[in-house]
Parts: sequence; structure tokens; C-alpha cells
Amino acid sequence: MPSIALSKDLSVLYITSEVHPLIKTGGLGDVSAALPAALRALGADVRLLIPGYPKVLASLRYKRKFAEFPNLLNFPPFVLWSAKLPKGKGISKGTPIFVIDCPSLYQRSGGPYTNTNGKDWPDNALRFGLLSKIGAILASDDSPLAWRPNIVHCNDWQSGLTPAYMYFYQGKKIVSLMAVHNLAFQGVFPPSTLTQLGLPSTGFHINGIEYYGNISFLKAGLFYSDHIITVSPTYAKEIQTITLGFGLQGLLAGRSDHISGIINGIDIAEWDPATDPCLAQNYSVKKITAKGINKRALQQIMGLAVDPDIPLFGMVSRHTYQKGYDLLLQVAPFLARLPAQLAVLGSGEGSIDRELVALEKKYPGKIAVKIGFDETLSHLIEGGADSFLMPSRFEPCGLNQMYSQRYGTPPLVHATGGLLDTVVDCTPTTLADGSASGFLFYEMAPGSLLSGIQRVVDAYRNKTTWRQLQRNGMKKDFSWHSSAMAYRDIYLSLLS
Ligand code: ADP
Ligand code: GLC
Repeated sequence: MPSIALSKDLSVLYITSEVHPLIKTGGLGDVSAALPAALRALGADVRLLIPGYPKVLASLRYKRKFAEFPNLLNFPPFVLWSAKLPKGKGISKGTPIFVIDCPSLYQRSGGPYTNTNGKDWPDNALRFGLLSKIGAILASDDSPLAWRPNIVHCNDWQSGLTPAYMYFYQGKKIVSLMAVHNLAFQGVFPPSTLTQLGLPSTGFHINGIEYYGNISFLKAGLFYSDHIITVSPTYAKEIQTITLGFGLQGLLAGRSDHISGIINGIDIAEWDPATDPCLAQNYSVKKITAKGINKRALQQIMGLAVDPDIPLFGMVSRHTYQKGYDLLLQVAPFLARLPAQLAVLGSGEGSIDRELVALEKKYPGKIAVKIGFDETLSHLIEGGADSFLMPSRFEPCGLNQMYSQRYGTPPLVHATGGLLDTVVDCTPTTLADGSASGFLFYEMAPGSLLSGIQRVVDAYRNKTTWRQLQRNGMKKDFSWHSSAMAYRDIYLSLLS
């Protein structure tokens, strides 16, 4: 039996570099809002720690200063605020949040990780070294707060140094957990960064923070944390292989007894077609036909030919190699020759952006592209498209395939990571047993994606099959409840 057996005795410091609705570049923002809220609903006392980017400070109306640090290590002066997440439509409103207000590190225009030209901030080691360090301080006897966590939950490389700081701390040890949302981003910096960030040079070791002659924030977290969680069961296995281990497969395989895969949930209040304010028309599983009004709105907004009968594919994501844009670009001319349309929203690598815009020019009315980050349009694409495309090369979890199913927009996905865990391929058997909810393609090759697209187009023509698929997806439970319970059980077992 664990010594702490109840969720109400859990105090969790959840360290993150983004949280919706304050700041979001991808799924981590959504998860950082919804998981802590779901854990709080189970009785756990979860509090967030985040850098004070301009958007974060501007969104928090009532905040209280609780500490000032004029000269901590080599960091510029900063203060700590405590506040609550603002009221919104989602489940996260009211979650307590600690904010690091360090103007010289965070007050700048651009994104949380990159400048306006998409280049990494040159001082990212210091920016996220500070986040990691404060996480460790709040878990230590040196904390300026009376509140103490008994679990420190780190997310991705940006808080990867926290378990290292905690390991080298001389006082009471607190349990730390490293959540891997994406192993491709590792926070790699020159070796000199180690002492600059106040970590001992003994940490520069293969059994430590060293990573092929440099240091890696993520490796530190994976090495020093008490437990590792990935955001889907399949990804937990994939990262232990050479193909998707990104050089860390040896370390991960060696720690396999300490790795769990828990599938992400979604915020079902924020992503609900029956109440979503971003849609032209709300609808539900009982009134799926009303979804057509969103298709019309989407076709008009994106400049596609307005046609209720042509299958419309949607896509919303970061424009990166991970998301399989190279494959999409190869297949798009064939898609344009089918009775099909494509609406794409996203931004990222400039070359992908440019190639997508060229496609739109070449196939007006059939392919439409919007470059940028647009929360409202992302909801309308979920509601207005007929099918959602995710040809991701790898996908630790993926959220859009779950949003799509909930919106009656069966997704077509590459069979990898969380996509494999959350989409049931449409076959005669799965249709008959009522589990079919989308389409999988298995080979990361243009022919395989294209035959997937053809399968969707064919299935779309059969209205009975299509309705069945839509209903199956819309009825699935993607809420955070059971995954939050799985996190709670891991926290409790770590404290036992
Ligand atoms: P990842 O975290 O790898 O980017 P996920 O599928 O987990 O992928 O989550 C992506 C989240 O970011 C989703 O909520 C998606 O709708 C959102 N998103 C991605 N790109 C955009 C964009 N250009 N505009 C609006 N939302 C976006
Ligand atoms: C990452 C992954 C994505 C996952 C998200 C939230 O950015 O790429 O697959 O859904 O984190 O966990």
C-alpha cells in the first residue's frame, strides 16, 4: 500500500513552457491546461510553473508577487508571481499558476522558443535553465513558498534540467517525473552551459547530462527523473528503438521498467461541436447533417469551390518534417485530380510554407492554404472538413485525430504512435462491430497515403458507411478522466 493513498494528499508542481489559453504552439499547450485540471478534479493539488512571456503576463489580471531574486547564479534579476488561469471555455480555469517574470529573458516579441524569423533564441539555455532551476527551488527547502510539492512533473526538454538540479540538491529528495511529448527536441547546448547554469561538472558524464560531447536538457531529465511518461503506449515502445529513439534509445531501453505510456485526453468542454463558438453551426451526433453548414462556411472562408458533395480534407499543424508534409506535397497533385478538396492551416518551416502556397496557386478552388496560427479557424476546419489528414512521420500522441473523431470528421492517419492507439481503421469487420472511426495507412510512402485518400473518397460516397463512421467517432470517450486516473496512480505508486 502506498504511504500516501489519496489524491487529496498529492501536491504536484507541473512545469511547462506553454499552456492554453495563455500561450500555445502545439499540443503541449492543450495538455498543460487540461491534464492538471483533470487531476485537480480528482482531488490532487496541481499547480503550474511557466515563464512570463508577454502574452502570459498580459492575460493574468490578478497576480501576487511572492519572491524576488536579484542575483541567482548567472540569471538576470527576476520576480515570481502567483495567479490563476483565466476563465475560459475549457476545463482549466482557476488552476493555480506560478510565473517567472524575468524581462530580459522572456519579454520579447516572437514565439516562446524562436524569434519572428523562426530561429531559436540564442539564450534558450538560460531561458529554460531558469525555468528548470525555479522548478527545483520550489520543490526544495529553499522555496519562498509554504506550499511544497511531493511530485515534480516536468514536460519536455524545457524543464529537463529540473531532475538534475534536484539530484544534486543536498536537502530532502522529492519525486520527479519526466513527461516526453516529443523526443525530437532535446535542448542540446555546449558543455560550458553546465557550469553557467550552476550544475557541477561531475554531471558532464555519459551517465548524466553529457550527450555526444554537448549537454542535453532532455537527456538530463530522462536520466535523473524517477519515472518517465510518454503520451501514448505505442510511443513508449517506439522511443526505445533506433528508428524513433533519436540517439536516446539505449538510455531509454535501459530504463524501460521506469517508462509508462499514457494516452493524452482532450478538453471535451473546449472541443465540443454542440457548443463550440468557433463553428458556423453547432451540431451533435443526433444532428450530424447540420455539420454541412460548417463545410460551406469553410469552403467560403478558404476560397474553395462551394460544393456540398465533394469530399473535403482538412489539415492543421506545425509545418515540419515530423508532420509528413513532404509526403503530402508529393501526393497533392494527385489529390487535386480526384473529386476532392484540401484545406490546410499551419506554419513553420519557410520552405514548406512556400511550397504549400504554390500548390494553392496551381489548384485554385481545390487546394487552399492559410499560413499562420489561427485558433478559430482550426476549430472550423475540424467542424467543416469531411476528413482530417495526419500523415505524420511520427506522432507521440497527436490531438487533432481525437478532435476530428469528436467532430464527426473521420481522420486519415499514418499508423504510428498515438495515432495508432486512437484511430480504428475502417474495415468490414470494424464497421460491423461498430469500432471503425477513421483510416490508417501503414507505409510512409506516397502510394500508401494516396491509396488511403482514395479509400476515404470511396467510403464518403457511401452515405450509410460514412454516417456510421462519423457516429462511431463522435461517441468515443476521449475525455481526460481515465488518463488522469492513470497519472494519479503512477504518482501514488512513486510515493509509496
Ligand atoms: P503537436 O503538439 O506535435 O504540434 P498535436 O496534435 O498534439 O501536435 O497538437 C497540435 C495542437 O496545436 C492542436 O490543438 C492544433 O489544433 C494546434 N495547432 C497546430 N497548428 C495550428 C495552427 N496553425 N493554428 C491553430 N492551431 C494549431
Ligand atoms: C507533442 C507531440 C504530439 C503530442 C503533444 C502533446 O508536441 O508532437 O504528438 O500530442 O506533444 O502531448
